[in-house]
Amino acid sequence: MRQNFHFHCFYVRSLHRWQQLYDRAGASVLQPVHHTSLDHHRLTLHIKRDDLLHASISGNKWRKLKYVLRQALSDEAAGLLSFGGAWSNHLHALAAAGHALGVPTVGIVRGEPEYAANPTLTDARAWGMTLDFVDRQTYRRRHDADFLAALALKYPGFYIIPEGGSCPLALPGVAELWRELPDCDQLILPVASGGTLAGLLSARPASTHVTGYAVLKGKDWLADTIHELYSPAADDSGWQLRLEHHGGGYAKCRAEDRGAIAALSEALAVPLEPVYSGKALLGLFRDIEAGRYPSGSRLIFLHTGGLQGARS
Ligand SMILES: Cc1ncc(COP(=O)(O)O)c(C=O)c1O
Repeated sequence: MRQNFHFHCFYVRSLHRWQQLYDRAGASVLQPVHHTSLDHHRLTLHIKRDDLLHASISGNKWRKLKYVLRQALSDEAAGLLSFGGAWSNHLHALAAAGHALGVPTVGIVRGEPEYAANPTLTDARAWGMTLDFVDRQTYRRRHDADFLAALALKYPGFYIIPEGGSCPLALPGVAELWRELPDCDQLILPVASGGTLAGLLSARPASTHVTGYAVLKGKDWLADTIHELYSPAADDSGWQLRLEHHGGGYAKCRAEDRGAIAALSEALAVPLEPVYSGKALLGLFRDIEAGRYPSGSRLIFLHTGGLQGARS
């Protein structure tokens, strides 16, 4: 009884910390940018700097994790467990969030234990995350019921969050972003597991079209994943995926693209990394130069953070 009371007080305190954490952050900056290609095509572009939302729970992770964390705390979970690669922005943010809330975290990491020394996982360990390395074959089973049941036995009472934090509870936190935006014709963002795009679609104003630049070889499964997360997206013609700008696949970036991303970063005065925001912004500029965006359009690009991964 006494122990139950003690645990209950612990979660009340953690929920209070959650509230303070999210109350403290205001809206992220909306930065106007200038570029000759924009002038040439008579477009305006602002960058929504979600990379600046929080020092360590960066970008879309801040928004995607918001209600997932609250749910886990309300459920009085023993800890938070999720999945990712050795440079995962999601595991990095989850470890930081667990540390801020005083809740234990576990990362199921794809790869060899030697990766524990890289900057991403060094930070995660410093924030108290337990790293559990699995080989690629085992990692592929991260959605299987029997694998998840085995993890639940190994880490009893832990709240299990899917890879990338993409789950239905990620959507409302992302949807709140619209409150911070002025009217625009296009909102543009990088897409990987689809949770951020699904969250935006769940509250899309009718006057704004959403374009997601896939940073991996998406084909049909990516749209299906988004429909699974938010089923009305299947009948919504107000969004599209651009699948041609993956640059060879997830986390791949050709030398000439790296150079082009660095040049864009300098010209726009915005820090970029080559896996998400840099790759998607490069795709956007190539589409602008190909005349894909109607003259006079007001564009907003969502910088989803992930700059910590650029230390690789
Ligand atoms: C920095 C960054 N930007 C964008 C994405 C893509 O977001 P989503 O997986 O919700 O499509 C991710 C994660 O996967 C990310 O880490």
